[in-house]
Amino acid sequence: MTFTSLKPQIEHIISSTEKTVDVRLKNICELLEAEIPYYNWVGFYFKNGDKNELKLGPYVGEPTDHIIIPFGKGICGQVAVSNKNFVVPDVSAQDNYIACSMTVKAEIVIPIFVNNENIGQIDIDSNTIDPFSEADERFLEFVCKKVATIL
Ligand code: SME
Repeated sequence: MTFTSLKPQIEHIISSTEKTVDVRLKNICELLEAEIPYYNWVGFYFKNGDKNELKLGPYVGEPTDHIIIPFGKGICGQVAVSNKNFVVPDVSAQDNYIACSMTVKAEIVIPIFVNNENIGQIDIDSNTIDPFSEADERFLEFVCKKVATIL
């Protein structure tokens, strides 16, 4: 697996208009979880209507209790207000963190913008400590830009 080889597969999923948006988002989660060994939980959160909270969308991995996350809470909630990528090499060093599973060691959250508005994010948990590089950020920004075109 390389990020370069995954990009056309992402584009193929995005352009599969015979599938619903939610199915395509789930297919993206499945692809990333299957192909990148240190991506162990992959999911989308989206702004919940007019509320200042995130709601869980399609995901792959262990079921989570955190279906709704208020803006500002946890890594995801912080990205909802900062509009910036958040790379956490070691979740145990974070104060404002919502634990989903004891096996998770690291997390990366990249916002999704539609018309310059932060409308959601891709959230990835890893069971490996400090696994994410700038290449992950650039690749996931690519994924988020593609996802934004079908929202
Ligand atoms: N750890 C996240 C919560 C979502 S789970 O990872 C699925 C956070 O701190 O926002």
